[in-house]
Amino acid sequence: MTKTKPILRWPGGKRRLLPKILPLITPHVCYVESFAGGLAVLLAKERSNTEVINDINGDLIALYRNVQYHLPELLREIDFALGSRKGLKDFMAQPGLTEIQRAARFLIRNKTSFGGNMDSFAVSRKNGGGGFSRESNTALLGEAHKRLDRVTIESLPYERCMDLYDSKDTFHFFDPPYLGSKIKAYDGWTEAQMCAFRKRLDKLQGNWVLTVDGSDFNRELFKDFRIEAVSSKNQSVNVRTHGEQRFKEFIITPK
Ligand SMILES: C[S@@+](CC[C@H](N)C(=O)[O-])C[C@H]1O[C@@H](n2cnc3c(N)ncnc32)[C@H](O)[C@@H]1O
Repeated sequence: MTKTKPILRWPGGKRRLLPKILPLITPHVCYVESFAGGLAVLLAKERSNTEVINDINGDLIALYRNVQYHLPELLREIDFALGSRKGLKDFMAQPGLTEIQRAARFLIRNKTSFGGNMDSFAVSRKNGGGGFSRESNTALLGEAHKRLDRVTIESLPYERCMDLYDSKDTFHFFDPPYLGSKIKAYDGWTEAQMCAFRKRLDKLQGNWVLTVDGSDFNRELFKDFRIEAVSSKNQSVNVRTHGEQRFKEFIITPK
């Protein structure tokens, strides 16, 4: 199967952990991502009978809906846009007057900003000078359009999504925000939020995989499950408890 690439650079994206995560997805009928972000896992895995993606970020979800339903209009809008420092600043000041314009500007801000942080222009002296190319955007969006066919796109608080789609035939991939992370695309979680999420895992009927930052707090909180510590270079996530270059994460599964 050909893997589809993410259309944007989402901080905390799981592309580099795919070789570890994909083999942990057990047989299921319904696949759910309650914290969809950049969709690295959905786009890389085999299609499931039923697939659901969800995120609380309304701009991100609106972009996916436009990729799914209004691809020609979105591409046309992107064609008008300049990938430039001025473009980024202009789109921060004016995010767009129509839904399609907003989706295009959100994508362009993501692609032209440092690590997808949405507001600092990415300066690059190599790789063709940054991430903005009409040709590659057109190809990526076209592939994502095909892959998102039949995918249900929700925009709910995660609690609602995981409960709505849970069943004994459901597989959940959970990738909540890291504890205390300081990034602009979305807020890091507090320990109280992580504890509330942990409690909900016991109620699930379906199987799941969870990725969280590799803090001592999380090791204790998730001690009843199987924890695999993985270490990878991650420059886009700045976590309070990890000053070092190599970023530690846990991949957690039920025992
Ligand atoms: C670590 S990112 C997911 C990254 C994704 N797995 C990827 O590979 O790109 C976490 C996502 O959770 C979303 N989020 C944060 N709090 C949420 C909530 N209460 N309900 C639903 N989504 C939430 C954020 O908007 C963010 O996109």
